[in-house]
Amino acid sequence: MRQEVIFSNDVGRAVDRVVGGCDGVCRVFVLVDDNTSRLVLPRLADCPTIKDAVVITVPAGDDNKTVDTLREVWRALQDGNATRRSLLVNLGGGMVTDLGGLAAATFKRGMRFVNVPTTLLGAVDAAVGGKTGVNFGGLKNEIGVFAPADAVVVSTRFFDTLPQQELRAGFAEMLKHAMLTGEAEVNTLLDLDHLDLDRMLTLLEASVEVKRAIVARDPLENGERRVLNLGHTVGHAFEALSMERGGTVPHGYAVAWGLVVESVLSHLLKGFSSTALYRLSAWVKSTYGAPRVACDDYPGLLRIMQHDKKSRAGEINCTLLCHYGDASVDNTVSEDDMKNALDIYRDLAGI
Ligand code: GLY
Repeated sequence: MRQEVIFSNDVGRAVDRVVGGCDGVCRVFVLVDDNTSRLVLPRLADCPTIKDAVVITVPAGDDNKTVDTLREVWRALQDGNATRRSLLVNLGGGMVTDLGGLAAATFKRGMRFVNVPTTLLGAVDAAVGGKTGVNFGGLKNEIGVFAPADAVVVSTRFFDTLPQQELRAGFAEMLKHAMLTGEAEVNTLLDLDHLDLDRMLTLLEASVEVKRAIVARDPLENGERRVLNLGHTVGHAFEALSMERGGTVPHGYAVAWGLVVESVLSHLLKGFSSTALYRLSAWVKSTYGAPRVACDDYPGLLRIMQHDKKSRAGEINCTLLCHYGDASVDNTVSEDDMKNALDIYRDLAGI
Protein backbone atom coordinates (compact mmCIF):
# COMPACT_ATOMS: atom_id res chain seq x y z
CA MET A 1 0.00 0.00 0.00
CA ARG A 2 1.44 3.36 -0.96
CA GLN A 3 -0.81 6.10 0.30
CA GLU A 4 -1.08 9.39 -1.58
CA VAL A 5 0.04 12.22 0.69
CA ILE A 6 -0.03 15.78 -0.60
CA PHE A 7 2.00 18.40 1.25
CA SER A 8 0.55 21.83 0.60
CA ASN A 9 -0.58 24.86 2.54
CA ASP A 10 -3.03 25.62 -0.29
CA VAL A 11 -5.40 23.14 1.32
CA GLY A 12 -8.55 24.12 -0.59
CA ARG A 13 -6.89 23.61 -3.96
CA ALA A 14 -5.31 20.33 -2.85
CA VAL A 15 -8.70 19.00 -1.67
CA ASP A 16 -10.34 20.10 -4.94
CA ARG A 17 -7.62 18.35 -6.91
CA VAL A 18 -7.89 15.11 -4.91
CA VAL A 19 -11.67 14.98 -5.13
CA GLY A 20 -11.56 15.91 -8.83
CA GLY A 21 -9.16 13.02 -9.36
CA CYS A 22 -11.47 10.46 -7.71
CA ASP A 23 -13.60 8.85 -10.42
CA GLY A 24 -17.36 9.35 -10.24
CA VAL A 25 -17.75 11.02 -6.83
CA CYS A 26 -21.42 11.96 -6.63
CA ARG A 27 -21.64 13.65 -3.24
CA VAL A 28 -19.11 14.99 -0.75
CA PHE A 29 -19.53 15.01 3.03
CA VAL A 30 -17.19 16.83 5.44
CA LEU A 31 -16.72 15.59 8.99
CA VAL A 32 -15.66 18.23 11.52
CA ASP A 33 -15.72 18.54 15.29
CA ASP A 34 -16.83 21.60 17.29
CA ASN A 35 -13.32 23.05 17.07
CA THR A 36 -12.66 22.57 13.37
CA SER A 37 -16.21 23.66 12.58
CA ARG A 38 -15.47 26.99 14.24
CA LEU A 39 -11.80 27.53 13.49
CA VAL A 40 -11.01 25.69 10.25
CA LEU A 41 -14.14 25.30 8.11
CA PRO A 42 -14.58 29.08 7.60
CA ARG A 43 -11.00 29.28 6.31
CA LEU A 44 -11.90 26.85 3.53
CA ALA A 45 -14.96 28.79 2.39
CA ASP A 46 -13.32 29.45 -0.98
CA CYS A 47 -12.86 25.74 -1.69
CA PRO A 48 -15.76 24.64 -3.96
CA THR A 49 -15.59 21.01 -2.77
CA ILE A 50 -15.94 22.00 0.88
CA LYS A 51 -18.42 24.82 0.24
CA ASP A 52 -20.86 22.48 -1.53
CA ALA A 53 -20.40 19.54 0.85
CA VAL A 54 -22.82 18.23 3.47
CA VAL A 55 -21.22 19.06 6.84
CA ILE A 56 -21.40 16.55 9.71
CA THR A 57 -20.37 17.93 13.10
CA VAL A 58 -19.43 15.81 16.11
CA PRO A 59 -18.41 16.91 19.61
CA ALA A 60 -14.63 17.38 20.01
CA GLY A 61 -12.35 15.35 22.27
CA ASP A 62 -11.10 11.81 22.63
CA ASP A 63 -13.94 11.11 25.12
CA ASN A 64 -16.29 11.39 22.15
CA LYS A 65 -14.38 8.91 19.98
CA THR A 66 -17.05 6.34 20.73
CA VAL A 67 -19.46 3.93 19.10
CA ASP A 68 -22.26 6.40 19.92
CA THR A 69 -20.58 9.16 17.92
CA LEU A 70 -19.84 6.68 15.14
CA ARG A 71 -23.54 5.86 15.02
CA GLU A 72 -24.31 9.60 14.66
CA VAL A 73 -21.96 9.82 11.68
CA TRP A 74 -23.51 6.73 10.03
CA ARG A 75 -26.95 8.27 10.63
CA ALA A 76 -25.93 11.60 9.05
CA LEU A 77 -24.47 9.79 6.04
CA GLN A 78 -27.68 7.81 5.65
CA ASP A 79 -29.87 10.91 6.08
CA GLY A 80 -27.73 12.66 3.45
CA ASN A 81 -28.23 9.76 1.01
CA ALA A 82 -24.57 8.87 0.91
CA THR A 83 -23.69 6.02 -1.42
CA ARG A 84 -20.54 4.06 -2.13
CA ARG A 85 -19.77 6.71 -4.70
CA SER A 86 -19.82 9.44 -2.05
CA LEU A 87 -16.68 10.71 -0.41
CA LEU A 88 -16.04 11.80 3.18
CA VAL A 89 -13.46 14.51 3.93
CA ASN A 90 -12.25 14.16 7.53
CA LEU A 91 -11.21 17.65 8.63
CA GLY A 92 -9.72 17.58 12.11
CA GLY A 93 -7.26 16.02 14.50
CA GLY A 94 -6.71 12.33 15.20
CA MET A 95 -10.14 11.92 16.79
CA VAL A 96 -11.87 13.06 13.58
CA THR A 97 -9.64 11.13 11.17
CA ASP A 98 -9.82 7.90 13.24
CA LEU A 99 -13.59 8.11 13.69
CA GLY A 100 -14.34 9.36 10.18
CA GLY A 101 -12.07 6.73 8.65
CA LEU A 102 -13.94 3.99 10.48
CA ALA A 103 -17.33 5.48 9.54
CA ALA A 104 -16.35 5.65 5.86
CA ALA A 105 -14.71 2.22 5.80
CA THR A 106 -17.85 0.57 7.18
CA PHE A 107 -20.72 2.61 5.67
CA LYS A 108 -22.27 0.48 2.89
CA ARG A 109 -19.15 -1.71 3.23
CA GLY A 110 -16.89 1.18 2.36
CA MET A 111 -17.00 4.63 0.81
CA ARG A 112 -13.98 6.70 -0.13
CA PHE A 113 -12.44 9.16 2.28
CA VAL A 114 -9.76 11.82 2.40
CA ASN A 115 -8.00 12.93 5.58
CA VAL A 116 -7.15 16.58 6.12
CA PRO A 117 -5.40 16.62 9.51
CA THR A 118 -5.50 19.97 11.28
CA THR A 119 -3.17 19.18 14.19
CA LEU A 120 0.52 18.31 14.17
CA LEU A 121 -0.15 14.99 15.96
CA GLY A 122 -2.83 14.14 13.40
CA ALA A 123 -0.61 15.06 10.45
CA VAL A 124 2.47 13.20 11.60
CA ASP A 125 0.72 10.10 12.89
CA ALA A 126 -3.04 9.47 12.97
CA ALA A 127 -4.05 10.57 9.47
CA VAL A 128 -1.44 8.49 7.65
CA GLY A 129 -1.14 4.71 7.66
CA GLY A 130 -4.69 3.39 7.54
CA LYS A 131 -5.48 2.83 11.22
CA THR A 132 -9.07 3.81 12.05
CA GLY A 133 -10.92 3.27 15.28
CA VAL A 134 -13.02 4.27 18.26
CA ASN A 135 -12.50 3.68 21.98
CA PHE A 136 -14.61 0.99 23.64
CA GLY A 137 -14.91 -0.60 27.07
CA GLY A 138 -12.35 1.79 28.56
CA LEU A 139 -9.72 0.85 25.95
CA LYS A 140 -8.36 3.17 23.29
CA ASN A 141 -8.94 2.25 19.64
CA GLU A 142 -10.46 -1.07 20.67
CA ILE A 143 -12.81 -1.21 17.66
CA GLY A 144 -11.41 -0.37 14.25
CA VAL A 145 -10.16 -1.55 10.90
CA PHE A 146 -7.12 -0.93 8.73
CA ALA A 147 -8.42 1.27 5.92
CA PRO A 148 -6.13 3.77 4.22
CA ALA A 149 -7.58 7.11 3.18
CA ASP A 150 -7.67 7.62 -0.59
CA ALA A 151 -5.44 10.62 0.04
CA VAL A 152 -4.11 12.71 2.90
CA VAL A 153 -3.59 16.46 2.57
CA VAL A 154 -0.91 17.57 5.02
CA SER A 155 -0.39 21.24 5.79
CA THR A 156 0.67 23.52 8.62
CA ARG A 157 -1.99 26.02 7.64
CA PHE A 158 -4.20 25.49 10.69
CA PHE A 159 -1.51 24.99 13.30
CA ASP A 160 -1.83 28.64 14.32
CA THR A 161 -5.16 27.62 15.90
CA LEU A 162 -3.36 25.18 18.23
CA PRO A 163 -2.04 25.83 21.74
CA GLN A 164 1.75 25.38 22.14
CA GLN A 165 1.10 22.31 24.27
CA GLU A 166 -0.66 20.62 21.35
CA LEU A 167 2.21 21.46 18.98
CA ARG A 168 4.75 20.08 21.43
CA ALA A 169 2.69 16.90 21.79
CA GLY A 170 2.80 16.32 18.02
CA PHE A 171 6.50 17.09 17.96
CA ALA A 172 7.18 14.02 20.14
CA GLU A 173 5.97 11.77 17.30
CA MET A 174 8.26 13.63 14.89
CA LEU A 175 11.10 13.00 17.31
CA LYS A 176 10.21 9.30 17.33
CA HIS A 177 10.35 9.17 13.52
CA ALA A 178 13.74 10.92 13.59
CA MET A 179 15.05 8.42 16.18
CA LEU A 180 14.03 5.62 13.82
CA THR A 181 15.94 7.31 10.99
CA GLY A 182 19.33 8.54 12.19
CA GLU A 183 21.39 10.82 14.41
CA ALA A 184 21.45 13.73 11.95
CA GLU A 185 17.63 13.75 11.80
CA VAL A 186 17.39 13.73 15.62
CA ASN A 187 19.92 16.55 15.95
CA THR A 188 18.05 18.68 13.40
CA LEU A 189 14.97 18.53 15.64
CA LEU A 190 16.82 18.98 18.94
CA ASP A 191 18.69 22.00 17.49
CA LEU A 192 15.48 23.87 16.64
CA ASP A 193 15.11 27.03 18.70
CA HIS A 194 11.35 27.04 18.48
CA LEU A 195 8.60 25.38 16.49
CA ASP A 196 8.82 27.57 13.41
CA LEU A 197 5.70 26.92 11.32
CA ASP A 198 7.34 28.04 8.04
CA ARG A 199 10.03 25.41 8.42
CA MET A 200 7.63 22.89 9.84
CA LEU A 201 6.07 21.82 6.53
CA THR A 202 9.46 20.61 5.22
CA LEU A 203 10.26 18.84 8.50
CA LEU A 204 6.79 17.36 8.54
CA GLU A 205 7.21 16.06 5.00
CA ALA A 206 10.39 14.19 5.97
CA SER A 207 8.73 12.86 9.11
CA VAL A 208 5.55 11.62 7.41
CA GLU A 209 7.70 9.98 4.75
CA VAL A 210 9.36 7.85 7.47
CA LYS A 211 6.00 6.50 8.56
CA ARG A 212 4.68 6.15 5.03
CA ALA A 213 7.67 4.05 3.95
CA ILE A 214 7.34 1.73 6.97
CA VAL A 215 3.59 1.34 6.49
CA ALA A 216 4.07 0.62 2.76
CA ARG A 217 6.25 -2.37 3.73
CA ASP A 218 4.04 -3.61 6.58
CA PRO A 219 0.53 -2.11 6.34
CA LEU A 220 -1.12 -4.52 8.79
CA GLU A 221 1.54 -4.27 11.51
CA ASN A 222 2.70 -7.86 11.30
CA GLY A 223 6.34 -7.00 11.93
CA GLU A 224 8.35 -3.95 10.95
CA ARG A 225 5.54 -1.44 11.58
CA ARG A 226 5.88 -2.20 15.28
CA VAL A 227 9.02 -0.01 15.31
CA LEU A 228 6.51 2.86 15.38
CA ASN A 229 5.70 1.78 18.93
CA LEU A 230 9.05 3.19 20.10
CA GLY A 231 8.38 5.14 23.30
CA HIS A 232 4.80 3.93 23.49
CA THR A 233 4.98 0.96 25.92
CA VAL A 234 6.24 3.24 28.67
CA GLY A 235 4.45 6.31 27.28
CA HIS A 236 1.05 4.60 27.41
CA ALA A 237 1.76 3.49 30.97
CA PHE A 238 2.50 7.09 32.09
CA GLU A 239 -0.63 8.26 30.29
CA ALA A 240 -2.86 5.50 31.69
CA LEU A 241 -1.59 5.84 35.27
CA SER A 242 -2.22 9.57 35.15
CA MET A 243 -5.75 8.94 33.79
CA GLU A 244 -6.49 6.39 36.55
CA ARG A 245 -5.62 9.15 39.04
CA GLY A 246 -7.86 11.70 37.36
CA GLY A 247 -5.01 13.61 35.67
CA THR A 248 -4.66 14.48 32.00
CA VAL A 249 -1.21 13.99 30.54
CA PRO A 250 -1.21 14.82 26.81
CA HIS A 251 -0.40 11.70 24.76
CA GLY A 252 2.62 13.34 23.10
CA TYR A 253 4.13 14.34 26.44
CA ALA A 254 3.82 10.77 27.70
CA VAL A 255 5.43 9.55 24.46
CA ALA A 256 8.35 11.97 24.92
CA TRP A 257 8.98 10.58 28.42
CA GLY A 258 8.49 7.06 27.06
CA LEU A 259 11.16 7.74 24.42
CA VAL A 260 13.61 8.62 27.18
CA VAL A 261 12.85 5.56 29.37
CA GLU A 262 13.02 3.25 26.34
CA SER A 263 16.32 4.88 25.35
CA VAL A 264 17.60 4.08 28.86
CA LEU A 265 16.52 0.47 28.29
CA SER A 266 18.18 0.57 24.86
CA HIS A 267 21.38 1.72 26.57
CA LEU A 268 21.19 -1.05 29.20
CA LEU A 269 20.20 -3.87 26.83
CA LYS A 270 21.42 -2.85 23.37
CA GLY A 271 24.40 -0.57 23.96
CA PHE A 272 22.63 2.62 22.81
CA SER A 273 25.03 5.57 23.27
CA SER A 274 25.02 7.29 26.67
CA THR A 275 25.93 10.61 25.01
CA ALA A 276 22.82 10.42 22.83
CA LEU A 277 20.76 9.44 25.88
CA TYR A 278 21.97 12.42 27.95
CA ARG A 279 21.25 14.87 25.15
CA LEU A 280 17.80 13.44 24.51
CA SER A 281 16.79 13.37 28.18
CA ALA A 282 17.99 16.95 28.81
CA TRP A 283 16.04 18.18 25.79
CA VAL A 284 12.88 16.29 26.73
CA LYS A 285 13.07 17.57 30.31
CA SER A 286 13.43 21.18 29.19
CA THR A 287 10.63 20.88 26.59
CA TYR A 288 8.09 18.64 28.33
CA GLY A 289 9.05 18.82 32.00
CA ALA A 290 9.07 15.47 33.80
CA PRO A 291 6.22 13.54 35.39
CA ARG A 292 6.34 12.80 39.10
CA VAL A 293 7.22 9.12 39.31
CA ALA A 294 7.97 7.52 42.66
CA CYS A 295 8.95 3.93 43.53
CA ASP A 296 5.38 3.46 44.75
CA ASP A 297 4.22 4.01 41.16
CA TYR A 298 6.29 1.17 39.74
CA PRO A 299 3.79 -1.67 40.39
CA GLY A 300 1.01 0.30 38.67
CA LEU A 301 3.23 1.19 35.71
CA LEU A 302 4.44 -2.42 35.32
CA ARG A 303 0.87 -3.74 35.50
CA ILE A 304 -0.23 -1.42 32.70
CA MET A 305 2.81 -2.33 30.56
CA GLN A 306 2.11 -6.04 31.06
CA HIS A 307 -1.43 -5.53 29.74
CA ASP A 308 -0.36 -3.40 26.78
CA LYS A 309 -1.75 -4.43 23.33
CA LYS A 310 1.77 -5.47 22.30
CA SER A 311 2.52 -7.70 25.28
CA ARG A 312 2.20 -11.47 25.10
CA ALA A 313 1.60 -13.66 28.13
CA GLY A 314 1.92 -10.70 30.47
CA GLU A 315 5.51 -9.90 29.46
CA ILE A 316 6.63 -6.34 28.87
CA ASN A 317 7.38 -5.77 25.19
CA CYS A 318 9.31 -2.78 23.82
CA THR A 319 10.86 -1.52 20.62
CA LEU A 320 14.51 -0.72 21.40
CA LEU A 321 17.39 1.00 19.60
CA CYS A 322 21.00 -0.13 19.10
CA HIS A 323 21.55 3.37 17.78
CA TYR A 324 19.44 6.01 16.08
CA GLY A 325 18.15 4.46 12.86
CA ASP A 326 18.57 0.86 14.04
CA ALA A 327 15.52 -0.38 15.93
CA SER A 328 14.41 -3.88 16.84
CA VAL A 329 10.86 -4.92 17.72
CA ASP A 330 9.45 -7.43 20.21
CA ASN A 331 12.08 -7.13 22.91
CA THR A 332 10.96 -8.73 26.15
CA VAL A 333 11.96 -6.57 29.08
CA SER A 334 12.15 -8.05 32.59
CA GLU A 335 10.54 -6.30 35.54
CA ASP A 336 13.99 -5.71 37.06
CA ASP A 337 15.31 -4.07 33.89
CA MET A 338 12.23 -1.85 33.67
CA LYS A 339 12.57 -0.80 37.35
CA ASN A 340 16.24 -0.10 36.79
CA ALA A 341 15.41 2.03 33.72
CA LEU A 342 12.78 3.95 35.71
CA ASP A 343 15.35 4.59 38.47
CA ILE A 344 17.84 5.95 35.92
CA TYR A 345 15.08 8.00 34.30
CA ARG A 346 14.27 9.62 37.66
CA ASP A 347 17.95 10.47 38.10
CA LEU A 348 18.19 11.96 34.59
CA ALA A 349 14.98 13.93 35.11
CA GLY A 350 16.06 15.04 38.59
CA ILE A 351 12.83 13.82 40.23
N1 GLY B 1 0.79 5.05 15.48
C1 GLY B 1 1.58 3.97 15.04
C2 GLY B 1 1.08 3.33 13.80
O1 GLY B 1 0.28 3.91 13.09
O2 GLY B 1 1.46 2.23 13.52
